[in-house]
Parts: sequence; structure tokens; C-alpha cells
Amino acid sequence: MKTVFSGVQPSGNLHIGNYIGALSQWVNLQNSESRIQNSELFFCIVDLHAITVPQDPKILQEKVLEVAALYLACGINPKKAHIFIQSENPDHPYFTWLLNTITPFGQLERMTQFKEKSEKHEANVGLFDYPVLMASDILLYQTDEVPVGEDQKQHIELTRDLAEKFNKKYGETFKLPVPVIQKETARVMSLQNPNSKMSKSDKDPLGTINLLDSEKEIREKVRRAVTDSGSSISKNPSEAIANLVTIYSVFKNQSFKNSTSELVGKSYGEFKSILAGLLVSSLSQIQKKYQGIRSGDKLLRQVLDEGAEFAKTKSSQTLKIVKEKMGISA
Ligand code: TYM
Repeated sequence: MKTVFSGVQPSGNLHIGNYIGALSQWVNLQNSESRIQNSELFFCIVDLHAITVPQDPKILQEKVLEVAALYLACGINPKKAHIFIQSENPDHPYFTWLLNTITPFGQLERMTQFKEKSEKHEANVGLFDYPVLMASDILLYQTDEVPVGEDQKQHIELTRDLAEKFNKKYGETFKLPVPVIQKETARVMSLQNPNSKMSKSDKDPLGTINLLDSEKEIREKVRRAVTDSGSSISKNPSEAIANLVTIYSVFKNQSFKNSTSELVGKSYGEFKSILAGLLVSSLSQIQKKYQGIRSGDKLLRQVLDEGAEFAKTKSSQTLKIVKEKMGISA
């Protein structure tokens, strides 16, 4: 049995970078024939991570449900995967405390996301400890694989280090989880700046296409996406165009190579209008499902309750073993 764990922060609008780097991978894993019988999948909405930077409490509650509904709308099937809200399983922060006691301070200081975020916000202890909470998420379920975008690689390396450290100190307990990162789609870039990744916290709304954007917004953002000084698609597209072709490939469900051969010679304007059309039709399908799910939040609540119950039965087994090994009363 292989365990897969991943999560998204409900800290803003989910965008096509999250979809391409994470959610579409999760759906592929979930539906892969060779996996169906022998995988246990956990997809979490990590609200305790989200509050490490300022959040409006009312908006946060709404965003948690929005992200959960988007998981379903993007194709996560609650009959095949367990979807739950991180804060509804108190084993996560509890285990974080235990892991804190074996985490080297210096290693957290070297985390690039901590450095980046603490430049933008006044750093609190929670933000510093963010990677340990993430390690707890992963290790509590004896996870084998963590499907994520490139930006999470360093956090998963820390998770492996902590698992190894724990095993050495207290005896073999944890498997070492591996990051699963798709090479071509690991890092979707901003449509306005091909040197920085598409991000929920981008101040320029034109850089990011959100899963719930309207047709008008999608067309406008694609039309205004930066390109380069050329005028038509070449065999080896430059960074900005390569980013748009990557996005096109994922929604077209074909390789980057096949997309470039299909598009070579097309003017940038023509390509952009094809891409916008593809995004509008793909995202409108997701949005239709999303509206359906949100019109009956009772069903969504049931999925989340079942997910949390199941998650707790799994995580409590790990936590019990860990506490015994550390000499903490169970
Ligand atoms: P978050 O919420 O920032 O992002 C969610 C997922 O989307 C991926 N992603 C991208 N992939 C490609 N291109 C982009 N521009 C892009 N932007 C975001 C992220 O890599 C991620 O997979 N720390 C995590 C959440 C987390 C988690 C976990 C993940 C908490 N605990 C345990 C896996 C396992 C985060 O901030 O994701």
C-alpha cells in the first residue's frame, strides 16, 4: 500500500499554477489504473499553515470551503481520496511540538520560503516553524509520496531529514517520503514576469489566472501576458512563451513537445486567442462543478467530516507510537 499526501493553503485564490503543479497531478494519481487498488490518498486544506501570515478570519473560513470544493470540482473523488481540513485533526499541531524538539534551528533559518515570506511580513514564530508543521502533516500518515510543485522541494527534504533523525534517535519509525514533481510543469511562472513564479500573493492581478476567474478576466490576462520581441512561435520558445505553451499543454492534455509542433509558426496573437479559448472552456467546466458543489455545502461538510475522521484514525496510530518512544504519556 502506497500513501500519498499533499495539501494547499487556503490563503488566497487558487490559480492555474496550483492546478498544474499540484491538483492535476493528484487527479492523475487518483485515476491511474495501476494505483487504484493499492494507494491511500490524503488531500488536506492546510489552514494552520495559512495563519502564519495575516488572514481575515471570516475570509479564511470561506476560503477553506472554497478550496475543498475546488478539490472536488477539479476531479478529486471523495470515494477514492480522503479530503480534510488540517485544523480538524489536532494530531498535526501536537506532533509538530514533538518534532520541534529534534529540529535544528539553523536548518529552519535556511528555508528559502521563510526568508522570502519574512521579507514581506513581520516574521512570527509560526512562520518560522511552518516547515515542521508540514513535516508533521506528511509523517503522521507514513507517507510514501508527496506530489507538489518545485517550490516545496526544500520542505520535503527537511521532512526526510527529520524522519531520519527521529529513526536514529528513537528507533526505526518513519518511512522517508519522496517528493513527486513533474519536470515540465514544476514551476508555472507569472504571466507578467517570467522570472517569478505564479503566486497567490502576487500583487499584480494580471500575473495570475485564478480557477474562479470570469471569462472576461481570463481573456484579458492572456491577451496582456508578456511575450518577447519575436512575433511567432518558434521550435524553442523563449521563457515567457514556453510558460504559455506549458499551460496550453496541460489543459490540452498533451506533451510540451507535441504542443510546440502543433503551434510552431502561429503568431503570438493567434496563439494567445487559442490559449484563452482553451482556458475559458476548461475552467468553465471546473466552475460549473464548483457552483453545483457550493449550492449544497451540506454534502461538502459530510465529505470533510468523513475525511477528518479517517485521517484521525490513521494519524493517532503514528502519534501513539511516537509518544511511547519519546516517553510522553499517551
Ligand atoms: P501552496 O498552497 O503554496 O501551493 C499548493 C501547491 O501548488 C504548487 N504551486 C505551484 N506549482 C507550480 N507552479 C506554481 N507557480 C505553483 N504555485 C504553487 C505548490 O508547489 C503546492 O504543491 N506548504 C504547502 C502546503 C502544504 C503541503 C503539506 C504540501 C502544507 N503541508 C504537506 C504537501 C504536503 C504550500 O504552501 O502550498
